[in-house]
Amino acid sequence: MRLNKFLSSCGIASRRKCDEIILSGAVTVNGKVAKELGITVNEKKDKVFYEGKQLFLPSSFVYIKLNKPKGYTCSAKDEKGRKTIYDLVKTEERLFSIGRLDYETEGLIILTNDGDFANKVAHPKYSIEKEYHVTIEGPIKESELAVLRKGVVVDGQRMPSARVEFLSSDEKYTKLSVVIDEGMNRQVRRMFEAIGKSIRLLKRVRIGKVKLGGVKRGDFRDLTDEELNSLVRAE
Ligand code: URA
Repeated sequence: MRLNKFLSSCGIASRRKCDEIILSGAVTVNGKVAKELGITVNEKKDKVFYEGKQLFLPSSFVYIKLNKPKGYTCSAKDEKGRKTIYDLVKTEERLFSIGRLDYETEGLIILTNDGDFANKVAHPKYSIEKEYHVTIEGPIKESELAVLRKGVVVDGQRMPSARVEFLSSDEKYTKLSVVIDEGMNRQVRRMFEAIGKSIRLLKRVRIGKVKLGGVKRGDFRDLTDEELNSLVRAE
């Protein structure tokens, strides 16, 4: 098995990220730093170490959906000492999130130790939809919605088009549903910044067919077989 596949199957990160980890020299195989891509390992015989710990292929995979509250980062360790989603999800297995949400963003995060599955769900080729509920201050004009739908230009770069629907409003706020299928960094926030709107609350409510549903803020639960299969089949 290729070393990057072995690492990602052990729940270290996606296969592409594992290539970076290998190149950084953080992995040893039988006591020697394995710094080249394309190395293969015999998972039954070879001893692979990462961050001082020997890695073993997990006997079973875990798939979790978490309702991330705002005020948590999605990194394993935060250099500013802030709380991370791993303070909420404490499992025996080493998990990683498929994609990330900003510190200030709340909602649905999927965590797993299945690297192949994570690669698939995160891969742009499968363009799995993500739906956000966005609460902005004040009203929004039809012309502004049209700009968001077409794809706003940020720093000379056109953002991908989005499906944007009006959900509700009161005298202070407007709530919208925004559906995108790419995961550019801070994509939703940048879209609204570009039209001069300030976001009060940003919450991811759906990834593909998996909905946040009744999971309370800060809670998590296993994906059902149906949810899991709906993501795996998204080809
Ligand atoms: N878009 C953002 O701006 N932030 C997120 O966390 C997710 C999507």
